[in-house]
Amino acid sequence: MLAKKPPMGWNSWNTFTKDINEEMIMQTADTMVEKGLLAAGYEYLTIDDCWSEMERDANGMLVADHQKFPHGMKYVADYVHSKGLKFGMYSCCGPKTCAGYPGSFGYEFKDAEYFASVGIDLLKYDNCFHPSTPAPLRYNRMAMALKATGREILFSACNWGGENVWEWARSVGAHMYRSTGDITDTFESIRKLSESQLPKLATSAPGCFNDIDMLVCGLYGKGNVGLGMGCTDAQYRYHFALWCMLMSPLMIGCDIRTMSEETYKLLTNKELIAINQDEEARPPMFVEDNHGMKDNIICFRHLAGGEFAIGFFNPYDREQTIMLPYFEIGLDPLCGYGFEIRDLLTGENLGVHRDYFEAKVDATDCRVFRARIVKL
Ligand code: GLA
Repeated sequence: MLAKKPPMGWNSWNTFTKDINEEMIMQTADTMVEKGLLAAGYEYLTIDDCWSEMERDANGMLVADHQKFPHGMKYVADYVHSKGLKFGMYSCCGPKTCAGYPGSFGYEFKDAEYFASVGIDLLKYDNCFHPSTPAPLRYNRMAMALKATGREILFSACNWGGENVWEWARSVGAHMYRSTGDITDTFESIRKLSESQLPKLATSAPGCFNDIDMLVCGLYGKGNVGLGMGCTDAQYRYHFALWCMLMSPLMIGCDIRTMSEETYKLLTNKELIAINQDEEARPPMFVEDNHGMKDNIICFRHLAGGEFAIGFFNPYDREQTIMLPYFEIGLDPLCGYGFEIRDLLTGENLGVHRDYFEAKVDATDCRVFRARIVKL
């Protein structure tokens, strides 16, 4: 079964847009292995838009850009596979991709054959210039074309959350579905996209996950979606930890060849990744902040193995004490049970807490904990 857990990998779009080429992709594949990203779970390397020639060939087949990919795409796919990684590519359900390259509308079966001949393992399928056909049909058509090739290909449906995608994405064979517009490297964008999905996580589950968009961690304002100064390390931590808590696919978007030590440590944080990849994949319960800070996100999540994850996310620009009163999650003060709590980011055991648990959270930062229920 594909996408038993939220898919993890790297994608070229957030940093490189059309400035992609064979050498950069192969170096990125090397880096994914050498820096231990593959070992941390990032297995898909995906080339996004702008990889092809502007015209199909005489037989109507897609052709890789001769200058960017002089040896053709199979050569790149073979190299990526030789590193133990999986290879992803991109197309669109309209006649053109978002950047104006040939799209798959009317060519779905032919293009699926091309992608299978290259040896792809993931197809990101975008939504620009689409005809008026209902979205489920557009996406189902490509899902069937991929199946017809006989190759196992993870289908990443990117329709930006339109047409109530969470209601039909699973039915049309998508393994992940973009539920939001494009992310930018700003804290405002991170907040807006994630908050839009808090009430829509019930259908995100093994086999088909809600994709809140690719990560901007480590961009620091550079690259395609980089704006101004980008975000602070605390804001990237908020972003990554929240995507882990909400079980979003984790697609790295920065240039990993030159990423900072801080970015590397965050992206390979075993404890956060374990929450993202938890095999039960249960979305969190959300508790309202009882100090009236309505934008705080307080998550309580059941994990496999009997433990719980607690996340405190402070989007305000000043430090706050955030509290989880246990009665808000059904644990009555008189029941005789409390939680033993460990800070995931520092590893510190914070001991047993009864009635409530509170912690200081820096401005635009987060704290994440693991909890075990214990008899007092
Ligand atoms: C859309 C998608 C992005 C990216 C670009 C490529 O905007 O949402 O993730 O794939 O197209 O043009």
